[in-house]
Amino acid sequence: MDSIRVKGNGTLKGEIPIAGAKNACLTLMPATLLSEEPLTLTNAPRLSDIATMTQLLQSLGAEVSGLQDGQVIAMSSHGPINAVADYDIVRKMRASNLVLGPLLAREGHAVVSLPGGCAIGARPMDLHIHGLEALGAKIDLRDGYLHANAGKGLKGAGIELRMASVGATENIVMAATLAKGTTVLKNAAREPEIVDLVRCLRAMGAEIEGEGTETITIQGVDRLHGATHRVVADRIELGTYMLAPAIAGGEVELIGGRRDLVGSFSDKLEEAGIEVAETERGLRVARMNGQVRSVNVKTAVYPGFPTDLQAQMMALMCTADGVAELEETIFENRFMHAPELMRMGADIEVHGGMARVRGVKKLKGAPVMATDLRASVSLILAGLAAEGETVVSRVYHLDRGYEHVVAKLRGVGAQIERIKS
Ligand code: EPZ
Repeated sequence: MDSIRVKGNGTLKGEIPIAGAKNACLTLMPATLLSEEPLTLTNAPRLSDIATMTQLLQSLGAEVSGLQDGQVIAMSSHGPINAVADYDIVRKMRASNLVLGPLLAREGHAVVSLPGGCAIGARPMDLHIHGLEALGAKIDLRDGYLHANAGKGLKGAGIELRMASVGATENIVMAATLAKGTTVLKNAAREPEIVDLVRCLRAMGAEIEGEGTETITIQGVDRLHGATHRVVADRIELGTYMLAPAIAGGEVELIGGRRDLVGSFSDKLEEAGIEVAETERGLRVARMNGQVRSVNVKTAVYPGFPTDLQAQMMALMCTADGVAELEETIFENRFMHAPELMRMGADIEVHGGMARVRGVKKLKGAPVMATDLRASVSLILAGLAAEGETVVSRVYHLDRGYEHVVAKLRGVGAQIERIKS
């Protein structure tokens, strides 16, 4: 297994290009199942999760090919569809469950393995099931697989989600595009990735409104046609790299970044004393001198502070000037980066969903281990300003969600390299 070695190397300067959003691409790709015509995605990120979704869609009978070094994904599912999503693919990536809604809408049945546990939490699918059953599907759990059947076809319905689940919203919206009649989805997730999915579905001929609000209304249509869609910028990659100059000092421009994608996160950075400015080409983030202030963070569904940036924000708070309280409200076990940061000298106390971080002067480089996607990058960020060398092992976690991380950070002056195992 490869590792990444990073050495504190002074302040950063330059620019980092922001890729297309992993979490938009992972819901846009299954949408190809909703039409027999080609669906092409541009500005796609080059990530192992995208390769996994490609493998899954191909196993279902879709044609998927990466063009232009993977930045364009050309898909077509005109052929016969095998509506069975195998455990050995699904267990690698929870987002595989996003084929459930499209398969039900397209084929009227689906067998999709439950994803199984994941490092950050149990991640059940009860909200997905509740929504799809409201559309008329019958879903049974047998030997670890969801067996779903839409009988004589899905019918529009009024659905209210107990909590604004991103994945459940995506599965329900995709299924409802081909249901008979109108679906009104209340307490829908409002993330930019949902807005991007709806824009793509609308380009395919779906009749949807309300995306980005808590109520999405879908008017079912008989069929969807092909489209070409540009994947929205990745707000989590953006927020992650905004923290690089915040932690190491200096000034970096994030090309393709947009403040509206990271509104509450940017507000928090400014509260901590970091400068965030919009530029022609994106966002400029700077910390010229002065101490970072400790700030309290509570993760929430969009537009609140993103849970996917909590680990990275903790890395910044480790050397801030006071005590920061980080409350994780979305996942039950998302502080696994804390013990690794403590190996670097961080002063962190974790009690349930709350982590209290007392800033120290400087962290010390150490060998640390990545435990999940976002935790792994928080260790690299911490290493940018630590004294000495930090070696992060198990970086396959990183490859899931960050393309060319070494090249992007080296491009702004970081001393970082990948060590092949
Ligand atoms: C999406 O996961 C993202 N993944 C996650 O990003 C992100 O952390 C999460 O949304 C929250 O923003 C993709 O988009 C591929 P949820 P998802 O359904 O859809 C509970 C990353 O690092 N829940 O909004 O699975 C669930 O257990 C990943 O890129 C139920 O209880 O998130 C969790 O506690 C990590 N029942 C909470 O809701 C359900 O049926 C949020 O889950 C579904 C979810």
